[in-house]
Parts: sequence; structure tokens; C-alpha cells
Amino acid sequence: MGSFLSCCSKKKVEDGANMGGGGSSSWRIFTYKELHAATNGFSEDNKLGEGGFGSVYWGKTTDGLQIAVKKLKAMNSKAEMEFAVEVEVLGRVRHKNLLGLRGYCVGTDQRLIVYDYMPNLSLLSHLHGQFAGEVQLDWKRRMKIAIGSAEGLLYLHHEVTPHIIHRDIKASNVLLDSDFEPLVADFGFAKLIPEGVSHMTTRVKGTLGYLAPEYAMWGKVSESCDVYSFGILLLEILTGKKPIEKLPAGVKRTITEWAEPMIIQRRFKDLVDPKLRGNFDENQLKHAINVAALCVQNEPDRRPNMKEVVNMLKGYDPRGKIMPLRIESAKYKEELLTLDQTSDDDDGSGSPEDSEYGVFGAMEVQKIQDPYKRFGYNTAVTKYV
Ligand SMILES: Nc1ncnc2c1ncn2[C@@H]1O[C@H](COP(=O)(O)OP(=O)(O)OP(=O)(O)O)[C@@H](O)[C@H]1O
Ligand SMILES: [Mg+2]
Repeated sequence: MGSFLSCCSKKKVEDGANMGGGGSSSWRIFTYKELHAATNGFSEDNKLGEGGFGSVYWGKTTDGLQIAVKKLKAMNSKAEMEFAVEVEVLGRVRHKNLLGLRGYCVGTDQRLIVYDYMPNLSLLSHLHGQFAGEVQLDWKRRMKIAIGSAEGLLYLHHEVTPHIIHRDIKASNVLLDSDFEPLVADFGFAKLIPEGVSHMTTRVKGTLGYLAPEYAMWGKVSESCDVYSFGILLLEILTGKKPIEKLPAGVKRTITEWAEPMIIQRRFKDLVDPKLRGNFDENQLKHAINVAALCVQNEPDRRPNMKEVVNMLKGYDPRGKIMPLRIESAKYKEELLTLDQTSDDDDGSGSPEDSEYGVFGAMEVQKIQDPYKRFGYNTAVTKYV
């Protein structure tokens, strides 16, 4: 913890002028007064939403820059730690598909992070939220969002040193610029991976529905947890379904449970989002479903890495075409699904007041023999030939 905090020392902050990410050229320290004025006193009208970290407000600086200000909700050591991690990680990344830092503010009792405002908000808002009715996400845009998000993750996993595992890949963390270019956001959950370490056990954080089984059960973190979450995200982009859906009878169903039978029977057209009204490229669809199926396999070692995912999505890697489709996805048991908040909300944004980190928030790393029983996890193994 100390190292994260010390990484965010004043010296480093002052060096930040040449850093930043997501295409922004620089970042700086903002004063609380400045951010207060920019967001109209953090008024409800300016509120873009609320997540585990706190509330996010739209604002405009005196020099006309539109910003999104994330205001830490509570000052405690855990929240401070996350703030430090966020700033530390953001300072390291620079990629067109990652939302970099515009600045931050450290007051006596406030912590705020400033980003560029993304005018098309999040992927979540287009798939399931306020823009869902407008169908601005045509097939081309969906492919661009899938490939761009994958490229952002590829950078985190393979290009930045030390490698970064995001750990909270989900639709609300994929923001869309004016051109619908995706920018993966929120590295507060990220964990910096020291060289030579293949995985780390840690407190489980994330959102049910996107969580890889080995992460949910064992707290085992590796790049392939992000690959699993990306697979769920990809299925969501292609099908328009939520990761966990509440059926009329109150039963909850995961996107993989829903998709599996259709993938087995190769009914790809039945999988695609009906909002596209049949306007999609069938080959690309098959290909992308195949990639998603590979990513959401239960066994982490079988999942492709993000380099392979990007190459398969771009059509460079023939493995994407010739490998048999298969999912060995995990099924959440009923007890766990009843704890899930996200599928109950129309916009899928969850209830941060109830749970800071989703249903696994309070769970420490478990070193036990039978995690399946204890945490209500079942594995449903389906082979595709
Ligand atoms: N730079 C931005 N531009 C536009 N909207 C943003 C920006 N940053 C965040 N938002 C939106 O504000 C809302 C709250 O974001 P926040 O990251 O706090 O929560 P979340 O993504 O729902 O959950 P989590 O805390 O797990 O990331 C989300 O709908 C998000 O898409
Ligand atoms: Mg977020």
C-alpha cells in the first residue's frame, strides 16, 4: 500500500505535465474551488452517475474544457488507497483506447479525479440505458467498440510495464467519444503486476456477471480474468443482452446460459441483437461469437490472450476461424444471483450504496478445498465439436 501512496507523491505529480493518456496531452492539479465552480457546486443536475468510488459529475472549466469529475464518496483508508492506485495507474497509461487522466484534486478531506468528458457516455447507456431506444450502435460501431476495447486491454496486458490487469471490465467502464471510439476507463481496481509474477491472489472485486470463475472463487487474478470479462462484454455488444438477465418469473439467467444452446446449434442469427434489424455482417458475427466463446471458457489456460483476441477479431489469426467453438462457462447458483444488484436496475448500473464492489465485496481470499460448494458456484461444461 505504501508504495502506491508514495508513487503519488508531489514529485511525481509535478512530473505529470508530459504524461496523461487516451489522447490527452497533459494533466494537472485542480483546486477544489475550481472543480466546485465547474460542476455548478456538484449539483444533482450535473451528475452523470454513481459507481463504487463515488459520484461522477459533468463540468466545464473556465477555459471551456468539458470534464467528468469523480468525487470520492468516503474518506477512509481503503478509498484513499483506491484513489492512489487510480492516479498511479492512470499516470502510466497512454493509449487511444484508454481514458487517461486530465487531473486531480487532493483537499484536506476530498479526493477528486478529473477526466475528459466523453460525450457519448458509456457503452452501458447505449445498450441498456438512456440511449438504448435510439439505436446509435450500428454493426460497424459495435465492431469498432469491440476491437478498440480489446486493443486498450492488449496495451494494459502486454505493452505497459509493469503489466496491468484491469479487473473491472464492463459496459459502464467503456466510454465513447464523439466518434464512438471506445475508451476503457476506471483503473481504480487495477493491480500492478510485478515482473515474473503470473497471477496474484487478492480481494475479489468486480461485478457479478463479468467475473471469471477462478477469480470469483479463489481470488486468483491474472490477465485471463480480464479476457473472461472481455468475452462477456463482447457477447453483450453482439447480442444486446445484459450479462445477467432477470426473467419475468424472477429467475436470473446469465448471458452464457442463454447463448450456449444457440452457439451449439450454430444459430448465430438468433444471437444477434434484434435492434440491428438484420443489418450485420454474418461472417463477422460468427467470427466474433467464436472469439467470445473462447474467452469465456471456464479454464483460464484455454482462453486466448488479448493479443490473440485482437488478431482474431481483426481477422488476422486463422485460429479464430478454425478452432472449434466451445464454452466451458461457469454458472452462478441461485443464492448468488439473488445477491446480484446489477440485473435489477434498468440501466444496469447497480446499487453502489449497497455494495461497493458487487456481491463479492466483503470476501477475502479463500484458501479452501471446495469453493464450488461454499460460494454457490457450479460449472456447466459444454463441449462444442
Ligand atoms: N469521462 C466520462 N465521461 C462521461 N461519462 C462518464 C465518465 N466517467 C464516468 N462516466 C459515467 O458516470 C457513471 C458513473 O461512473 P463510475 O465509474 O463511478 O461507476 P460505474 O462505472 O457504474 O461503476 P464502477 O465504480 O465499478 O466503475 C457511469 O455511467 C459512467 O459511464
Ligand atoms: Mg466506471
